[in-house]
Amino acid sequence: MRMKTTRTSSNTVDTDDTQDTHKTPTTTRKTATMELYVDSANLADIKHAASLGFISGVTTNPSLLAKEDPSLDIKTLILDIHASVGGHTSVEVISTDADGMLREADEILKWFPEATIKIPFIPEGLKAVRALSDQDIPTNVTLLFTPLQALIAANAGATYVSLFLGRLDDMASDGLRAVEDTVEVWDMHDVEALIIAASIRHPIHLLGVAKAGAHIATVPYKVLMQSMQHPLTDAGVESFLADHAKMMKAKGGA
Ligand code: E4P
Repeated sequence: MRMKTTRTSSNTVDTDDTQDTHKTPTTTRKTATMELYVDSANLADIKHAASLGFISGVTTNPSLLAKEDPSLDIKTLILDIHASVGGHTSVEVISTDADGMLREADEILKWFPEATIKIPFIPEGLKAVRALSDQDIPTNVTLLFTPLQALIAANAGATYVSLFLGRLDDMASDGLRAVEDTVEVWDMHDVEALIIAASIRHPIHLLGVAKAGAHIATVPYKVLMQSMQHPLTDAGVESFLADHAKMMKAKGGA
């Protein structure tokens, strides 16, 4: 019996691949639970999501930070975000040259050494990713829209590759297809980098990337909350409580 080890975002699992009955990569993929990150720079939302116990990281970007109170100090906000979630925290550089990106990375790593440095997929960004990867500093390559961009980022040493769904859908391209194709390429070549599904706009995106086999989905707070909701859950809780109250009354209790 041949056993293979499948890399996952948080651990590895041994799978018996002789038991696989399906042939397509998306259905033969065996991983541990897909991780969920909050895609936000809003401290209150991040704290609430983290308090629920199912979040293992947070991704920020300059646009998300720009939505927050301008009087907040960025470093303090990032450190508060990191402390709240207690796991992966991606912080994006804004330089467009490799030296500038590396200087920013040094600064961010002085704030907290566990930071993941988020770098845009531009040629200078790839140089910076290679330099950081050579020092074992984790990187998250962002603004990826195709499997080939993701493959190039992975070969530059990216720890994470962030595929954007929503922005592709916005221009009538198939965002989910880009993630599915990336997963297929990853499975074909045992690529090490972890696939983050980003630019998620609604729960159906989240379900799609979970089925496709993304390792991680970074999800806006609102979509996380929407994904928890079901009217039958609420109705069920209400009827259980009503029946319990009825029973207690019948027993002559409170
Ligand atoms: C996360 O890493 C990305 O920056 C984010 O998901 C982009 O989302 P948007 O396309 O909704 O701005």
